[in-house]
Amino acid sequence: MSNKVNAVIAGVGMYVPETVLDNKYFETIVETTDEWILSRTGIKERRRLDTGATSDLATGALLDLMKSTGLKPEEIDIIIVCTITPDMFFPSTACLVQDNVKAVNAWGFDLSAACSGFLFGLQTGASFIETGRYKKVVVIGADKMSSITDYTDRNTCILFGDAASAVLLEATEDLSIGLQDTILHCDGSGRESLYIKAGGSLNPPTRETVDNNMHKLYQDGKAVYKVAVTGMANVSYEIMQKHNLTADDIAYLVPHQANLRIINATAEKANLPKEKVMINIDRYGNTTAATIPLCLAEFYKAGKLKKGDKLILAAFGAGYTWGSAYLVWGID
Ligand code: UT7
Repeated sequence: MSNKVNAVIAGVGMYVPETVLDNKYFETIVETTDEWILSRTGIKERRRLDTGATSDLATGALLDLMKSTGLKPEEIDIIIVCTITPDMFFPSTACLVQDNVKAVNAWGFDLSAACSGFLFGLQTGASFIETGRYKKVVVIGADKMSSITDYTDRNTCILFGDAASAVLLEATEDLSIGLQDTILHCDGSGRESLYIKAGGSLNPPTRETVDNNMHKLYQDGKAVYKVAVTGMANVSYEIMQKHNLTADDIAYLVPHQANLRIINATAEKANLPKEKVMINIDRYGNTTAATIPLCLAEFYKAGKLKKGDKLILAAFGAGYTWGSAYLVWGID
C-alpha cells in the first residue's frame, strides 16, 4: 500500500500595515507622476510599516492564519520565513516569529530567494510534509521593503511595499489536491542587476558604504524587466505543457506582482484571460516574498477559490531566481 502524501494548503493568513502611500505622495518626494507610475507598473498605492520589523508583519500574518484555521501554536512543527529583509542577520526571523506566537514545539529558519521566496519556501515546506515526519508546516512570505528602499531614487522607490502572508501546509492522501509540481531555477550571473551592494561579508558596513548609499536596494530595471518578462512567461507555460494543462483547465494564474506589464505578458503566453489572473499590485505594489501568498489569501477570503481549482504560481526575482508551481486548491 502506498503511503504517499501531498502537501496541501490548509489555511491562509495575511497582514498589511495601515499606512498607505499613494502615487500622489511620491510626486511630493521625487520627480514622478501618478500617470507614469500607473502606466509603467500598474501600481496605485502600497503600504508602509511605520514602526516594527519584518517579524511583526510575519507574526501578524501567522496570527491571522491561526485565527481563521483554529491552528494552535503548539501544533506547529516548522516555521519557514521567506524574506530578504530579516529583522537581523541572525537570529533568523523565524525564531522571532516562533517566540512571538509561542510555537513551543516548532523549529524553523529563514529562506532567502527574493521575489521567488514563497515558491522556494512552498517547495521546501511541501518536501518536509511529504516525508511524513512533519504534520503542520507554516510558510510565510514577509518583507518590510521600506527598510531597504532608497526614497531618493525614483527608479525604485515607487515600486515596493510592506506586507506578509502565511500558508499552513498539511498532508493529504488525496493526491488530486495540493502541490503537484514545481519548476525552480537560480542563476547568480544576474547578481548585480538587483541587489544590496553592502552590508554583507563582501562589503561589510563602513562609514564609506553608508555615505555611498550602498545599503539600499539597487535595481537595473530595464535589465531585470527583459529577463523577467520572458522568464516568468516561459516557466509558467512550461509547467502547463508538462502537465497537459490548457487555459481552460486553469482557474487562476497567481503571478509575482512586480509589474503589471510582466503579469500581462505571462498571462498572454499562457492564453489566460484577465479574469483568470490574480492581481493586487495596484493596492500593494511589489511586496517581494509576500506577493503570491497575499493574492491567495485575498482571493480565498473573498470566496473566489474553491476546492479543486487548478492554479499556476509564477515568480521572477533577484539572484536571479525564478520558477512556477502547479497547485490544486484543497480547501472547500
Ligand atoms: O520583483 C523583482 C523583479 N523586478 C522586476 O521584475 C522589475 C522589472 N523592471 C520593471 O518593472 C521596469 O523596468 C520599471 C518599472 C522598473 C521601469 O520601467 P521602464 O518602462 O523599464 O522604465 P525605464 O527604466 O526604461 O525608464 C524609462 C524612463 C527613464 O528616463 P529616460 O532615461 O528615458 O529619460 C527613467 O529615468 O523613465 C524614467 N523614470 C521615471 N520617470 C518618472 C524612471 N522611473 C521614473 C519615475 N517617474 N518613477
